Amino acid sequence: MTQARAYTNIALIKYWGKSDITWNLPTSSSIGLTLDQLYTDTRVDLTDDLKQDLFILDGQLASNPRISKVLDFVRQQTGSHKYAKITSENHVPNSAGLASSASAFAAFALAASDSYGLPTDRPSLSRLARLGSGSASRSVYGGFSIWYQGYDHQSSFAQSILDPVDFGIRVIDVLTDKKTKKIPSSQGMQRAQSSPDYSNWLSQSKMQIREMIAAIKNKDIEKIGLIAERNAMGMHALNRSADKPFDYFAGETWAVINDIHRLYHAGIPAFATIDAGPNVKVITDSRSCQKVADQLKNFGEILIQKPGPGVVHV
Ligand code: PMV
Repeated sequence: MTQARAYTNIALIKYWGKSDITWNLPTSSSIGLTLDQLYTDTRVDLTDDLKQDLFILDGQLASNPRISKVLDFVRQQTGSHKYAKITSENHVPNSAGLASSASAFAAFALAASDSYGLPTDRPSLSRLARLGSGSASRSVYGGFSIWYQGYDHQSSFAQSILDPVDFGIRVIDVLTDKKTKKIPSSQGMQRAQSSPDYSNWLSQSKMQIREMIAAIKNKDIEKIGLIAERNAMGMHALNRSADKPFDYFAGETWAVINDIHRLYHAGIPAFATIDAGPNVKVITDSRSCQKVADQLKNFGEILIQKPGPGVVHV
């Protein structure tokens, strides 16, 4: 038996498109910041008497084909024929809307690699986590990390940019909507790739990766926030200009963004980023985070997060 814990990460430069669906290879590199409040604990037990993998999520029997996809790969690598019992607990303040495949598959990669005797160095864990969920390749690391696009299973993995983080960046979740997302990210990506602006977004993203690494090295929260916001807005514009257009934003999303812009113009560092759902995350600093949280608390539950650690045994 082995149990592991991993935290969620927020993408500052987004992963939004696949070049290979089976191996979850992305169309671009991405940068994430692992946070310290939301995590998943996952335990893997190998027993001889199981006829298939068994997945228990938050105390209930569940099914997720990506779990067996990862385990089939692990079994193929090790020559093992054993099935596994996977017990996973999401530690999120108010469950729905925050559960994350990034923390889940990063924790699962460590617990499964340990149980089956695969290497547990971070690049190997990152590759394995990627097979379950692309963003999970970054949650293997604490602080800032970059997931290199690569061109095959071996070359597509994440590496640390900065951990621990020695400056006061904060990320505030504004939970306007706790329902599950309407379009799963894999489907959203596939549709976004039909946008006539897609290749332009990819070349922008390539430049933004370089700018973001420099901003992180310079501990420049304003630059980090400005680049992240531009990258996120570009991603959501792709969705709106796809063949079959769609939008993760809700009315409240725009209302929160407008307030963030008002704060910024009043001299407070506050920048928006949004993933595959309507909730806004605010990038800010330790001095301003309480003020920003107070300003936005009427929109819903607020969660202030600091940079968090990489995957560990528990
Ligand atoms: O890892 P997935 O398949 O859940 O996709 C994540 C997509 C975004 O969260 C929108 C961007 C990212 O890089 O995390």
